[in-house]
Amino acid sequence: MTELTLLEKIVALCKRRGFVFPSSEIYGGINGVWDYGPLGAELKNNIKMSWWKAMTQLRTDVVGLDGSILMNREVWKASSHEEQFADWFVDCKLCHARFRLDHLKESACPLHPSKHPGDCGGELTEPRRFNLLFKTYVGPLEEESTLTYLRPETAQSIFVQFKNVLESSRMKIPFGIAQIGKAFRNEVNPRNFIFRSREFEQMELEYFIPPDTGFQYIEEWKEQRILWYESIGIPRAHIHVRDVPEEERAFYSKKTYDLEYDFPFGRQELEGIAYRTDFDLKQHATFSGKSLEYYDEERKCKYIPHVVEPSAGVDRTLLALLCEAYREEEVLGEKGEKEKRVVLGFSPRIAPIKVGIFPLLKNKIDIVSKAKEVFRLLQKHFKSFYDESGAIGRRYRRMDEIGTPFCVTIDFETLEGVREGALVGKKNTVTVRYRDSMRQDRVMIEELVDFLREKIE
Ligand code: GAP
Repeated sequence: MTELTLLEKIVALCKRRGFVFPSSEIYGGINGVWDYGPLGAELKNNIKMSWWKAMTQLRTDVVGLDGSILMNREVWKASSHEEQFADWFVDCKLCHARFRLDHLKESACPLHPSKHPGDCGGELTEPRRFNLLFKTYVGPLEEESTLTYLRPETAQSIFVQFKNVLESSRMKIPFGIAQIGKAFRNEVNPRNFIFRSREFEQMELEYFIPPDTGFQYIEEWKEQRILWYESIGIPRAHIHVRDVPEEERAFYSKKTYDLEYDFPFGRQELEGIAYRTDFDLKQHATFSGKSLEYYDEERKCKYIPHVVEPSAGVDRTLLALLCEAYREEEVLGEKGEKEKRVVLGFSPRIAPIKVGIFPLLKNKIDIVSKAKEVFRLLQKHFKSFYDESGAIGRRYRRMDEIGTPFCVTIDFETLEGVREGALVGKKNTVTVRYRDSMRQDRVMIEELVDFLREKIE
């Protein structure tokens, strides 16, 4: 059997342990769409909560928005998505596979994977253009007048609500509006697991600034965003900043940095940070006929604010965290035999489950009831998981594989303060076992919550 690639191992683990499943799998799935299982949902929420906290709680200059997915079609005309949000693609006449024209160099021929499409003997069709917007209709009639789109980015509701947010929150420029939500793109070629999908989630900030400050704020946001990735467990050294050349930038951007990550399939964009100028607000002012000017009391003048936009993908961040965390180690088993352990070394802050709680033996009623008592105590504070089935070593391994940083075991010593008949310590202590070092500490139950909280935060 050939060795599985890192990505294949991660995909298999995600399915086996309930992080990510193919959407509608029992019906054969749907290409480019994924469901997050119990652990994936926890992990995803932790990423989003961390971003939201960093943006809206730890800063005084950013407020939040939760905009709708469906918007008036005029929004997409003004933003230029209806006209321009398109990719060029080609088909192979031999194997009938479809490729994005700008991805030919990084794509492999399905029949001859060592070759690029077109270099493999298959003839490619002329490039054709394809709009990525998902169409839908509002109301019972399916006609031109009821047509709109599922939003392809969350940013536009921020621009469209700029005035309402400004007036209701009494913010002053510079200030930002943050939003997390679903976006939809009918990608020509969804691939690489959850990296490029047709339904995904974005975490976007539009930071409104005076016209002549874009180049200064884009530098500040680049640094802030790298700090955030560090805080969730992706080291600065693993984030590569790409100064996107003009010919590759969106037409509205005067400067763009891509934050890239070395995924198993190559170095790819995790987040884009763009200086979008005043393009969006100007367009919406023109198309809606409503003024989106701002009166700057300090400068004593009116202007249409400019915008710096850090735009991150939740799904790509989650995939980068999985790649960063996955490792295989050779360790000694309970009987001294060598065994492989798979570990997801998530930062405790982001781990889907923070603590596993185990009674040492499941047939000792006193130990089990004490363990359940400890579980009820901890679940009020942390996402906890109670497990009494199987040997203790196997229970630890199961927690290692899903990235649980701490396991708490309740044993005879917890009840009696005795081990093997001898008085060794105080009653009401438990072992806390660390995922990474596999070391164990003994901790008083009454100190357990503070002990774990300090380690998690
Ligand atoms: N508002 C700007 C904007 O949408 P983008 O570079 O097209 O810019 C921003 O998207 C981020 O959204 C990307 O860096 C990526 O993390 C995520 N993203 C974009 N398309 C995606 C897709 N098809 N699947 C998963 N994530 C995607």
